Order: sequence, then structure tokens, then C-alpha cells
Amino acid sequence: LQGSSDKHPDSGGITPRAIYRNDFPQEFVFGCATSAYQIEGGAFTDGKGNSSWDYTAHQPGAILTGENGDVACDSYHKYEEDVCLLANLGVDAYRFSIAWTRIYPDGVGEINQFGVNYYNRLIDSLLAKGIVPYVTLYHWDVPQALIFKYGGWQNEQIVNDFAVFAETCFDLFGDRVKHWITVNEPTVDLALNSGCVTTADYNCTESNKQQRRYIAGHNMLLAHATSVKIFREKYQASTGGIIGISLDIQWFEPLTNSEADIRAAATALAFRGGWFMDPLFHGDYPQEIKDEMNYALPVFTEEQKILVKGSADFIGVNYYTAEYISSKALLGFSNEPAFPVTYPSDVYVGKTKHGEAIGPEGASGLNIVPWGLEKLLVKLKELYGNPVFYITETGVSELRNPNNSLEENLNDEIRVQYLHDHFEYALNSVKRGVQLRGIFAWSLMDNFEWSWGYDYKFGLHYVDFDDGQKRYPKASALWLKQFLQ
Ligand code: NOJ
Repeated sequence: LQGSSDKHPDSGGITPRAIYRNDFPQEFVFGCATSAYQIEGGAFTDGKGNSSWDYTAHQPGAILTGENGDVACDSYHKYEEDVCLLANLGVDAYRFSIAWTRIYPDGVGEINQFGVNYYNRLIDSLLAKGIVPYVTLYHWDVPQALIFKYGGWQNEQIVNDFAVFAETCFDLFGDRVKHWITVNEPTVDLALNSGCVTTADYNCTESNKQQRRYIAGHNMLLAHATSVKIFREKYQASTGGIIGISLDIQWFEPLTNSEADIRAAATALAFRGGWFMDPLFHGDYPQEIKDEMNYALPVFTEEQKILVKGSADFIGVNYYTAEYISSKALLGFSNEPAFPVTYPSDVYVGKTKHGEAIGPEGASGLNIVPWGLEKLLVKLKELYGNPVFYITETGVSELRNPNNSLEENLNDEIRVQYLHDHFEYALNSVKRGVQLRGIFAWSLMDNFEWSWGYDYKFGLHYVDFDDGQKRYPKASALWLKQFLQ
């Protein structure tokens, strides 16, 4: 294994070295992550209701490969195998999500006992092997019934319905689950699903797009904060758990040291991370978004500000990439609407500096920039008063290649290097005083990558989708196992 493929610009030429688990604080958590729709399958089994993704994935043209998550990795039936994979890796923790529609098929109403039984079995199997469950309540699979009924996240009614679902989970699983994540990657969800790309959002037009995105985001913040309030008032003391949210935030590196570029990078960060972080820590949206988006951005009431401010025991950061930011229109830089948020017109996003890429690309086109993780965490620490963080996801993808031999599919050197390097920069951030408590690799196994079907493979385990969803450890799984030993 090489040292970091990509040197930190601030490292002053220090040669990176191999890292070991013992370099991390003893209680530092290493885990793997997945989400319900991406792995469970059993989409129409045992009374489960349709989620937005069950619906969307069956709309012609919605998924680039024409595939869906009806069976996925079949974890609904193979969860015990998953737990064995985790135990074999020797990880401390497993982050998975609960499908709202397995518990409440219509989003509200009667509880579906089969769904409850499934998560009880999964949680109990994990605990039996000493693996700590980290549970996400919403990983993009909103009940389709609530979209038909009142427009899903577009309607404030969802705040209460989500809180009822959350409380049901605290009640049913809180005796064993001590780590809760309310919502996963709201800004990507708002772009992909509850926002405006896929057909689940059939009322969406070019002109109401921004408005719908910010309204849905507002309701998500309120749903998060309301659930946290319930948790703190009724469950936290008795169960001893903690609760937070997972945000997708990348690093934005100013292209030059000019004040204008530094300001542009700060604005980009405000739009991407600040959209949710500012309300959570300061009780209101960032000024940058207010200035630019006032026509689309809802206004918090005083009561809502109080509800939202301080409503996270920790922040989960899902870190995948970094980009250069320029205040000027340069070749290779763009201020066209970017995914998943639209930046103001004086913020230009690009991937190269003097023709040199910020990092090598993974299959899904994201640049691999390990040093960005350290910079991001240190910046967030400064901006938000040193909160507790987990990296609730980090990972890289390979492209599906039907001509590959099994051996080729298992040889994921890119992921071995990726994990090593991201662990290294995570450790640097700890040394610089960031309260980072753990890191979860995305993902335990190859799975359904949303609009891209099964083309992008993020797994530490290869899944043979043509042969009974058999799982095989890739080189990265073996590396992680060794690292953890
Ligand atoms: C973030 C999302 O939370 C997850 O669902 C997705 O598969 C990974 N990133 C990889 O794109």
C-alpha cells in the first residue's frame, strides 16, 4: 500500500505513512453503512407499503439502467449473512436504515408487525455478534401514500407523520438502539427525489423547482427537530441514546488565495452544508442563501428557530469529494445549476487547477480528495463551535463491467487506497481537535445506486446479482479486516 495518493496541500511535503487502528482513540468507531431501499429487496413482501422509490423505479426512464430495488441484495431474507460479513470484518458498528413503509405501509395508521419483526431480528443478530446498530430513520424512501395524499415533503403535515414514525421506532427499538440518525443527506434527496429530478415528483416544473426544494428542506428540518424533541423528552434519559442527522457535505477548495475566491468557496459551503448546519447551530438559514434565494426560501417562525437550534447531539458527515471554487468564469469552471444544489451566479465550480485534476475520479465521476476531509472537518469545527461528528459515509465506486471475471471484480485496489487515505485524514482532524467519533465505509456491499441502477459499485463486498445475490469479500474487505485487527 502506498502512502496517500494525493498529498495534503498543507502537509509541507511530509510523506504520509501507513496507519493503524491503534493510532485512533480507543473508543473510535469503525463501521459500514447501507440503506433500506438499496439493499433490502422484499419490496412488496409481508405487507410493506410502496415508498417513493418503489414507485419511481417502476416509471419508464426514471432509472438509467431500467433496473429497480425490488430484490436488490435481498437483505430482507439474507440479513443474517450480512451480519456475518460485518462480524467477519470485525467492525464495531453497522449503520442501516429502517424503511418507513415496512413499519407504516401508508406512512400513518396501523403498524405492520412483519416489518417490526424484521428489524427486531436484524438488531438482535447484530447485538449477538457485538455489533452496535446506528439506525437511520429516513434514507429517501418516503411513503408514496403520503405523496399522493398531500405531496410528501412539500406539505407541513409530514412533520407530524414523520415524528409519529420516529417515536414508534424509539419506542420499539430504543431499548437496544442507542444511535439514531433522523434524516440522511437531505440536499441530495431534495435534488434526486423530493426535489425535482425523478418522476416521483410529478408536480415539479422548472419554475417552481427551487421553491419546492427549499420548502421540502424546511419541512425536513422541522421533522428532524420535532423527532429530536420527542426523543429528548421521552426516551433519551431512559435509553441513554444519542440522536443526530447525516448531511452530505463536500470540501470546496478556493482556486487561489484571493479574497474573492475564498469568499466564493465559503458561499458554496454555506449553500451545501450551511443550509442545514446553520439552522441546527444558529437557528436560521445562512445569510448567503437568504440573500440569493429569498423568493424561494421559507422563513422560520421564532418558535421554529428555538425548536431547530441545538437539535443534534452529533452531525453525521457523508464525505465523498471536493471541488475547486473560483469567483471568476474560467475555462472548465461553471456556475450552471450544479448537483445537488444551485450555487449563486458568482460561484464557479471546477475540478482542475492549471490543468491538474483535484484528484483521480471514481466511476461515478466524483473526484477522490482525501485531504478535503480534514479541511472540511476543521472548517466545520470552527464555524459551528466544535460539535461531535461521525463520518456516516465515505466511499468510492467502480463501474459494473459484465466482462469482468470474479477475480477482477474482487480486486478493488482503488477502494483499499481510498479507505486508507480517508482514515489518515480523519485521524489528522482528530489530532487537530475535531471531535470525530467514528467513520463508516459506504458500503458494506454493492447495491442499488438510485437513478444509476447497479452500474456504480460502492461495496466492500461484491454481490453477484445474477447468482442468488451471493456476497464475496473484495480486497478492500480483507484490508479493512486486517486494519481493524
Ligand atoms: C450517499 C447516499 O446516502 C447513499 O445512498 C449513496 O448510495 C451514496 N452516497 C453513494 O452515492
